[in-house]
This record gives sequence, structure tokens and C-alpha cells, in this order.
Amino acid sequence: MPKKTAEDNVDQLLDPIAQTPGYDDTETNVGIWGHPIHAMSVAFPVALTFCTFGADALYWWSGELFWARAAVWAAGTAFLFGLAAGATGTAELLLVPGIRARAPAWTHFVIAVMLLSLLGLNWGYRMQGYEAAILPYGILLSGVNVLVVMVTGWHGGKLVFDYRLGTSKGSG
Ligand code: HEM
Repeated sequence: MPKKTAEDNVDQLLDPIAQTPGYDDTETNVGIWGHPIHAMSVAFPVALTFCTFGADALYWWSGELFWARAAVWAAGTAFLFGLAAGATGTAELLLVPGIRARAPAWTHFVIAVMLLSLLGLNWGYRMQGYEAAILPYGILLSGVNVLVVMVTGWHGGKLVFDYRLGTSKGSG
């Protein structure tokens, strides 16, 4: 009888997560004609997070009140659009069995909730006086938020492009 190799043994191992019912069911449940609303809505908080940092930097450079006002509006809308995008993502996570079963989807959730807290902090901090808040802590917070939104967006992209979560199986 031929001897079993290490590779043969690995082939026989069962991934307990892959045994979860609905593991292969990863198509969006929160979409418009199969196009996930989450993927459509994340562009707004991502762009507005960058805008907040940009407006802070322009205020620092020019001292113009206009940029301090632009920054507080960008910070507030980044947070509110972020909450809306987070709600659609959370619905997707809870409603789609194949997304719910995968650990990377939960990792994305944890990073995103941290981002939303930071976006809320950046807006709330400016409520005491949006001009005085910028230097130094407002702009520092905006810089950190740019880094965290990049990580969140990159990781969300990984869910779509590597794990194909939220994507349709295609028609042929
Ligand atoms: C708070 C809870 C969140 C959950 C549970 C969540 C979940 C998901 C899921 C399941 C996907 C895969 C595509 C889909 O099924 O729609 C995804 C993609 C993505 N997420 Fe989130 N998400 C959350 C928040 C956020 C936030 C706040 C951002 C950024 C501001 C973000 C950025 C992205 C990006 C950029 C993609 C890739 C979209 C694409 O390339 O089509 N997510 N997310």
C-alpha cells in the first residue's frame, strides 16, 4: 500500500468555516439590481475625509476663515455619510450568510467602526469653535483619519476583489 504523504493529509482536512451553511452565498442582499449600495455609498465618506484634511491644510497655509468653515462642513458630512455607508455595510454583513461567515468581513467592520468614531470625534471637537480647533489637534485628527480611511477602503476592496463578497456570479 503506497505511503501517505503530508499533502494527502492536508487534502483530507476540512475547513470548519467552509462547512457553514450558505458559505458560497456571497451575493449582495442590499443592492440595486445586484449592485451593492455599500460600494456605491462609501465614495462619499472617503472623499469627504480627504476634503477635511485638505481644508485644514489650506486654513493653516492661508489663515482664511472660509477654509475653517469648509473643514467643519466636510468633517460633519464625512461622519454622517460614513454612518449611512456603515449602515448598508452592516446590513450586508448580517443578511448575507457567506459574508457573515468570513472573518475578514468582521475585520473590516471593526476597522470601519473605529473610523466612524474618529470621524465623529473630528466633527464634535470642532463644535467648541471650528476655527480654534484646527491647530494643532483638528488637523492632526484629520491626518490620522486620512490614514484610517485608506486602510478601511483598501480592506473593503480586498473583500470585493480577493474574496468576491457582494459580487454577482455573472451570467456566463
Ligand atoms: C461599519 C460597518 C461596515 C461594514 C459591516 C462593511 C462591510 C463591507 C462589505 C460586506 C463589503 C463587500 C461589498 C458589499 O457586500 O457591499 C464592503 C466593501 C467596502 N467597504 Fe465597507 N463596511 C462598513 C463600513 C465601511 C466604511 C465606513 C467605509 C469607508 C468609508 C467602507 C469602505 C468599503 C470599501 C471601499 C469597499 C469596497 C467597495 C468596492 O470596491 O466595490 N466600509 N464593506
